[in-house]
Amino acid sequence: MTAAVQPVDAPEFPVHSYRADFPVLARKVRDKPLVYLDNAATAQKPRRVLETLDEYYRGYNSNIHRGVHTLSELATEAYEAARKKIQTFINAASHQEIIFVRGTTEGINLVAQSYGRSRLGAGDEIIVSEMEHHSNIVPWQLLCEQTGALLKVIPINDAGELDMDEYKNLLGDNTRIVAVGHVSNALGTINPVAEITALAHAAGAVTVIDGAQAAPHTRLDVAALDCDFYAFSGHKLFGPTGIGVLYGKQALLDAMPPYHGGGDMIKMVTFEKTLYNDLPCKFEAGTPYIAGVIGLGAAVDYVNEIDMDRIRDYEHELLQYATLAAADVQGLKPIGTAAQKAGILSFVMDGIHPHDLGTILDHEGIAIRTGHHCAMPVMERYGIPATARASFAFYNTREEVDKLVAGLDKANNIFK
Ligand code: ALA
Repeated sequence: MTAAVQPVDAPEFPVHSYRADFPVLARKVRDKPLVYLDNAATAQKPRRVLETLDEYYRGYNSNIHRGVHTLSELATEAYEAARKKIQTFINAASHQEIIFVRGTTEGINLVAQSYGRSRLGAGDEIIVSEMEHHSNIVPWQLLCEQTGALLKVIPINDAGELDMDEYKNLLGDNTRIVAVGHVSNALGTINPVAEITALAHAAGAVTVIDGAQAAPHTRLDVAALDCDFYAFSGHKLFGPTGIGVLYGKQALLDAMPPYHGGGDMIKMVTFEKTLYNDLPCKFEAGTPYIAGVIGLGAAVDYVNEIDMDRIRDYEHELLQYATLAAADVQGLKPIGTAAQKAGILSFVMDGIHPHDLGTILDHEGIAIRTGHHCAMPVMERYGIPATARASFAFYNTREEVDKLVAGLDKANNIFK
């Protein structure tokens, strides 16, 4: 590190003791200690989550909502307890507003196909932003194809911030849905989703917030945001892959048709007519990922014990430290320099393709993601094919940032 990098004081945060909760962080990659900086793609799992999954499968594996036997009751109890934990975690008004889905992508598709398809028609408008990842673009394009609705896009400035004036211009009598990310996966920008929601409501539209990259980094409060739908993934929040959450306001969910048909989402079935179940079961057809839900509940318990506000503050300091350190690396250009950012350092380097950078860093035991990050329009906005992206979690350290910087210097030497 050079003198230009001024370390910022981290708040009291026993990061090394938290690291010890994550078995994989102790492993080596290519004979070097793993430096895991690909948390935006998926985060690592604490022992608590691993043990919870193991206990379920070893101790009370059973289907839910269907059995009178002891194991089924235990599984149902744990599954529904996890729903209440998540209700509290995001400050939803009711556990009935918590729908378990496979992940953010499925949550957004559910809203598009259930809410959107039943309400939108030709000429209606859906607003997304230029910084969305594909999961918050393609479901809306599909909906547009099905209904004749039109997709409008809020542009971003060079720093990677939404052009709020242009957003206001786009809002109009025909706007039905505004779908934006809380935090950009490619740029790290934190969007003003409460303000976006208030403006959307004033125009008579609902908001769908993609919280995939926000949930691991900040305290969620859907009541304060007043958003209509909020989706996030378990695996980025230190829980299992294949499980996620869709929050929706109860009145909206109640009025929406089911997304999938099958067991558990019905009250009564005849060949003439089927009566659908109440919320939240109406949207959870088939045997769900029971272990995943219970495991996600354990992940939420875990981060609650650390405290999401402390996680946010620690990561903020770490990102500041990394941003300053990166500024000193020769030929490095950050992509995404918004005033409000969380967890992401995206960049390109003169004369080195991001994929080569990723490979060189992997030889140092450092995992980053390189490519378009499932956000091709963002790459197009900046006129680049790809970026290198280091993404942080609360278990990352300044020492790891220093190793990243040393790896980047090494790449510069190799490509000189
Ligand atoms: N959307 C995930 C990422 O940003 C997969 O890497």
